Amino acid sequence: MKKTIILLTFFLLSLGLRAGEGMWLPLLLQQLNEKEMRAMGMRITAEDIYSINHSSLKDAIVLFGGGCTGEIVSNQGLLLTNHHCGYGNIQRHSSLEHDYLTDGFWAQSLAEELPNPGLSVTFLVRMEDVTAAALKNVTSRMSETQRDSAISANNKLIVDQAIKGTHYKASVRPFFAGNQYYLLVTETFSDIRLVGAPPSNIGKFGGDTDNWMWPRHTGDFSVFRIYANKNNNPADYSKDNIPYTPKKYLNISLKGVSEGDFTFVYGYPGTTQEYLPAAAVDMVANHKNPIAIGLRQQRLDIIDQAMEQDRLVRIQYSAKAAGIANFWKKMIGESRGIKRLDAVDKKQAFEQEFSQWAAADPYREAAYGKLLPAYNSIYSDFTPKNDAYTYLTEGPLSIEIIRYAYSFNKLAQQSSQKTVSDSAVNALAKQLLAGVDGYFKNYDKNVDRKIFAAIMNTYCEKASPDYMPAIFTEMKAGYKADYQKWADAVFSKTLFASAETTKAFLEKYSRKDAKKILNDPAFQLAAATYAYLQQNLSKDIARFYDVTDSLQRIYMKAQMEFLPKKLFYPDANSTLRVAYGQVKGYEPADAVEYNWFSTLDGIMQKENPDIYDYVVDPRLKELYRTKNYGPYGDRDGTMHVTFIATNHTTGGNSGSPVLDADGNLVGINFDRCWEGTMSDLMYDPDQCRNISLDIRYCLFVIDKVAGAKRLVEEMNLVN
Ligand code: ARG
Ligand code: ASP
Repeated sequence: MKKTIILLTFFLLSLGLRAGEGMWLPLLLQQLNEKEMRAMGMRITAEDIYSINHSSLKDAIVLFGGGCTGEIVSNQGLLLTNHHCGYGNIQRHSSLEHDYLTDGFWAQSLAEELPNPGLSVTFLVRMEDVTAAALKNVTSRMSETQRDSAISANNKLIVDQAIKGTHYKASVRPFFAGNQYYLLVTETFSDIRLVGAPPSNIGKFGGDTDNWMWPRHTGDFSVFRIYANKNNNPADYSKDNIPYTPKKYLNISLKGVSEGDFTFVYGYPGTTQEYLPAAAVDMVANHKNPIAIGLRQQRLDIIDQAMEQDRLVRIQYSAKAAGIANFWKKMIGESRGIKRLDAVDKKQAFEQEFSQWAAADPYREAAYGKLLPAYNSIYSDFTPKNDAYTYLTEGPLSIEIIRYAYSFNKLAQQSSQKTVSDSAVNALAKQLLAGVDGYFKNYDKNVDRKIFAAIMNTYCEKASPDYMPAIFTEMKAGYKADYQKWADAVFSKTLFASAETTKAFLEKYSRKDAKKILNDPAFQLAAATYAYLQQNLSKDIARFYDVTDSLQRIYMKAQMEFLPKKLFYPDANSTLRVAYGQVKGYEPADAVEYNWFSTLDGIMQKENPDIYDYVVDPRLKELYRTKNYGPYGDRDGTMHVTFIATNHTTGGNSGSPVLDADGNLVGINFDRCWEGTMSDLMYDPDQCRNISLDIRYCLFVIDKVAGAKRLVEEMNLVN
């Protein structure tokens, strides 16, 4: 046994791999990963996961909405994802009368499943390496702009060719910072209905307090269904649509997992940046994050307090607060993880070795010798500008009234342009009018006014005056730095703080009213800020990305040459990937050891009827008391709720299926452990763990708590 472990470790090291790290391209698994995956215990083949010729597991995976993953679990297009991925849609169906967010929702029949305008899911039909075709006629002497336009022209041809005569869409995307290109052909369905969601005290149990943390007890899932037209093709919502028959759906295992088991996560990781220089990591962890964390903290404190006091505000702001809190906490964890890992120092040490290697050969010196000095100089120039940008976007531009006021910019502009007809202006006003109720359904002006005063205070006092739009310094002086007074003045004069004034204004709108928009105090702040961004910072930012994009392409190529034995994986870019690893606990701090799974006992231990996020559902409590777990309990007699493993995941992987050695569904990925959230910049096998909902708890909630047996009966459970 020991010997095989030593051999396996040696094998992994000889590949230059740290177990668990990596988000791999499904179509390259056979070539790059299959051997290792089998050595770790996988019993299926790479071909079962991704096949060019046959249906494979990939046909059961979707990109859900803009930024999550979902998986098909029945032959009628039933789909599982996270509760937090369906949250916005559940929220939109919720009101004081039907509070599905708080109480949950279960459609009793197909007819009760709720449509979600704007929600779509996308399947990957196929992917293909098209690097040669994408880079055709591209030379190293071209400027970045010339290079970009040559590549765009090539890609257009590739895409047109790929989708000719189909209803598919396609795109060509850069990988390895533009050293490789892949064609992705996709199929999108847009009639997606809500089938079920647990109450928040299950689906969001522990709320933002437990978010990003282990041990975790969140039943983070929701259930949707894909509908298609009679030919099983994508179609816009229609009551005549029928459940989609998928090419493939996942079988669900009731066996659970054990420590050390092989698992893999199949989904759509959004963004990682593993190959950046030290200076970039320093900018994120030590500049951008701390600024954003402070500003978000202020907004959250105000929103949380209001949500505690008012049920309506809770419904209005719960989704917004979850979004603000999520990245707030992620950034805190990430900056701590970078520090604990000495990631900046580690990168610097790597850069020294790299520079020595480059200097040892005249060709390399010519190609790569100036790379790191160039990085360092551009980052030291750009960091204060990026600070200013973060202050603006996380500060004034995060205030709702300012953003909303700016949505009237187009109307104001077109009204004063003679070339735009009266009817076009009126149509635009009408369009804005149609959106008023939707916006104000989720708006509370007292919350926003408090946020305005707090954020303006921090922004005007702390952000660098060198990069501050003049209107802020003028206003600050005008109100003698009394931010509350400033906020009160804006909110008493603006048109855009209530549905009534906004509607009255739009209903009678004629083009000469543009003046009222232009003179509105909230609009003026917005307009001055956006103008400043456009005329100043945006140019700096564009220039910065222009330069660093090309540096990164060269640096990526150079790193691959420097470490020829290392197996590289491309950074996440919202394309379908496979991460694989082992079920495993970890040691978050000196003298602390974490187990690899959590149970219903932990939910009972966390119970607190006075705190919204820790109320335990009475039905759940009763099932716990009688240990009525049906086939979903573990061998050990408890109800497992979540488990952790070393799979390398990131934002976007939420809702991804977690599969076992046989390719059966054992969990739904929903989060990472806090100590490991720096994995987007540097992965640490000791600390990085993905958190998955045990699929047996999900089924238990559907079947026993919600009584939605019809759904479990649709699925294929294996033992
Ligand atoms: N941290 C998880 C992810 O990044 C879940 C976030 C949703 N939950 C919440 N309490 N805000 O998306
Ligand atoms: N919770 C994240 C998501 O929504 C997953 C993660 O960042 O680990 O995708």
